[in-house]
Amino acid sequence: MGKATAVDAEVTRGPFDPGGQPEWPARHQLEMSLFGWNAQGGLSANNAVLTDLPRYRDYWHWPRAAELLREAERQGFDAQVQFGLWSGWGGTSGWNDAALDFASAAAASAVATENLGLFSTIHVGYAFHPLHLAKIAASIDFISGGRLGLNIVAGQVPRDYRQFGVDEMPPSETRYAIADESTTLMKYLWTSEAPVNFEGEYFRATAARLAPRPARKPRPLLMNAGMSDTGLDFACRQVDCAFVSAPSGDLSGLRDSVEKVRGLAAKYGRKVRVAVSCYAVVGATDEEAARTVEWLEENVDREAVAAFLNIYREEAGIELVPEDDPYLGVGREKFMHIGLGMQSFQLFGGYETVAATLRDMSAAGVDHVVVNFFDPMEGVKMMGERVFPLLAEVGLR
Ligand SMILES: Cc1cc2nc3c(=O)[nH]c(=O)nc-3n(C[C@H](O)[C@H](O)[C@H](O)COP(=O)(O)O)c2cc1C
Repeated sequence: MGKATAVDAEVTRGPFDPGGQPEWPARHQLEMSLFGWNAQGGLSANNAVLTDLPRYRDYWHWPRAAELLREAERQGFDAQVQFGLWSGWGGTSGWNDAALDFASAAAASAVATENLGLFSTIHVGYAFHPLHLAKIAASIDFISGGRLGLNIVAGQVPRDYRQFGVDEMPPSETRYAIADESTTLMKYLWTSEAPVNFEGEYFRATAARLAPRPARKPRPLLMNAGMSDTGLDFACRQVDCAFVSAPSGDLSGLRDSVEKVRGLAAKYGRKVRVAVSCYAVVGATDEEAARTVEWLEENVDREAVAAFLNIYREEAGIELVPEDDPYLGVGREKFMHIGLGMQSFQLFGGYETVAATLRDMSAAGVDHVVVNFFDPMEGVKMMGERVFPLLAEVGLR
């Protein structure tokens, strides 16, 4: 093998797609993925999970998780998208206090399923060398026959930086500069025939090489869920699918968010798909779903929500949330939005309502919806058996 010349650090700001962007293997006009199956309690900061732990909180335990993934595959879900966590929020429900890591969960789900897309969430800021990440991803992609994708997260939890020995969380610009460099080096490693020399500001490599290389050519699919302008710019330059937020109950701004992504990606000469994250409570009827929602609203884990709200306040030196306020000082709406879905879009209702909402998201330009369910096994079945057929009627599935 020849020796590659050292990479000019200029390249690290992208757009950078050696061999081009991979073709996104969309099987449906509106793709649907199961989100957060690998983390305790998923997006439910809720004591209602304590009423049936295996069903509502501990579905990530093996072999139940394998059954859930196989059911998602059977019901026609396009992919699973993992939640990447290195610590949880505690409280009485132990919200997110345990989670399977990105590599083990992806490798295990690769062998548990046959066709399901597999997205692992990796943190590029927590002192992982890109060669580690590229090697793990290439190996799981190889095992799964090209089904692995990565959700690239810069890392935004101060105490997790500390867990990895980084005392001060870097500012946003630096975090995304690290993400840029890490992603660029991974892309080189996945696609280069020759060993790679890399002289970056944050990472160095001398004659680094990968074998096996990923099964998908030229490289695995990439996602990002940055919400800041810096994060969105990174997504449009470096990945193939970007998340946008969809405020619950109001989809009027969604089209603008989608167009912002498409416009920025086009400016960089790239195509970027748009995804939205949802927290779902589905019932046969709106009334049935509303009863579950009411139960969940009565049982929000305040302690866990307070920990979630305080993590950034503590770091920024802002006063902690007032414990004596029933909604912790953020108002009922935001409090419920965190307790029921960690601020994801709340997809609540009967089959018809849920299908209509998903149709509206698609009409606004959304390509991909990732869903975490309060009741994952039942939710996956209801989606597959009752909601997907309604979407098929309008050509979305
Ligand atoms: C749908 C969605 C999924 C996310 N998944 C994770 C995750 O699994 N792990 C994580 O640490 N952060 C996750 N994040 C946080 C983002 O990566 C990002 O840090 C956050 O949206 C803040 O945006 P910014 O980094 O541009 O400031 C997620 C965000 C969204 C909207």
